[in-house]
Amino acid sequence: MKAVAIQAFGPPEGLALIDLPVPAPAAGQVLIASEAIGVGGSDAVIRRGTLATYGFQEGHIPGSEVAGTVTAVGDGVDTSWVGQRVWAFTGVGGGYAEQAIAPVEEIRPLPAGLSAVDAVTLGNSGIVAHFGLSHAHFAPGESVLVRGAAGSLGIMTVQLAARGGAGTVAVTTSSAERGDRLRKLGATHVLDRSGEGGDDAPSGYDVIIDIIAGADMPSFFAKLNPNGRMVAVGAVGGMPPADFGMTMMAAFRKSMSFATFSSDTVAESDRRAVRTEQFDAASRGELHTVVHELLPLEQAVLAHRKMDTGEVFGRIVLTP
Ligand SMILES: NC(=O)c1ccc[n+]([C@@H]2O[C@H](COP(=O)([O-])OP(=O)(O)OC[C@H]3O[C@@H](n4cnc5c(N)ncnc54)[C@H](OP(=O)(O)O)[C@@H]3O)[C@@H](O)[C@H]2O)c1
Repeated sequence: MKAVAIQAFGPPEGLALIDLPVPAPAAGQVLIASEAIGVGGSDAVIRRGTLATYGFQEGHIPGSEVAGTVTAVGDGVDTSWVGQRVWAFTGVGGGYAEQAIAPVEEIRPLPAGLSAVDAVTLGNSGIVAHFGLSHAHFAPGESVLVRGAAGSLGIMTVQLAARGGAGTVAVTTSSAERGDRLRKLGATHVLDRSGEGGDDAPSGYDVIIDIIAGADMPSFFAKLNPNGRMVAVGAVGGMPPADFGMTMMAAFRKSMSFATFSSDTVAESDRRAVRTEQFDAASRGELHTVVHELLPLEQAVLAHRKMDTGEVFGRIVLTP
């Protein structure tokens, strides 16, 4: 089968199309013939080699979300899965391939009306958005700022905050055109990447969901209201300054909180329940998936170039 491997960490050209034997599902796993493969911000971070210290090595097959049809199951897996169309989380890799392996606990049937492409666009982003907001103790009526809203995580967070009754949903983004698209998904105020603009935007927020981190993180932390909560769910812009802790302590009397959030810490059963709800909501048209572009698997390099230039709004999906 065809697959795409990271032959050399660094620029997108380090990705190469290779031939691999079709993998056999081990006990507790399923094999999926993929129709759609999500290209996530994390895939680009792994490809750049930023996470080499976490054990990623050259030769790694990136990609953590696929959707398609189960073609075989390993020992202990109900054979009725064979032939079913599913969404699957493959873990930290293995997704950029014509066929992919996933643990049976990490697959969900696709409801009628939800395409494979939509499923990999919503997939894990919806989970991070949902549990990121609950980690921030978001409550109806509160003001929310989504920093880095134009990616798949941000797009889902904007929609869930709006659906959850937020009084304000401000976003940061790099252009007015993107701002308009985010308004259609529920944003009420559009700020630039530094948090400026949006003339009538509130001066403070109860909740900030931060997908960017990086050098500007302290200035966003300063935008929290008293008792406000900032939750970092991504680090697209790199790590915050080393003295970020000083910023927090300097604001001691405002009782503000900072937390990180990873969906790894959510119980599998909770992820499954929320994912089922979100897939159903998307199939009814109540949650919107935003597909930037469909590209064939062979064009993974082009997909990653587009990720690196920052032109992607929503998610690129590869099709084998
Ligand atoms: N917490 C979890 O469980 C979890 C799970 C999966 C992934 N992640 C993390 O989530 C992140 C990827 O999320 P994503 O795919 O939604 O993001 P993304 O598409 O890579 O980026 C989101 C948006 O951020 C803006 N942006 C890009 N570079 C920026 C910079 N240097 N400064 C300010 N804004 C910038 C861009 O929009 P504009 O041009 O419009 O500003 C971009 O569209 C990664 O850090 C990944 O590790 C976390």
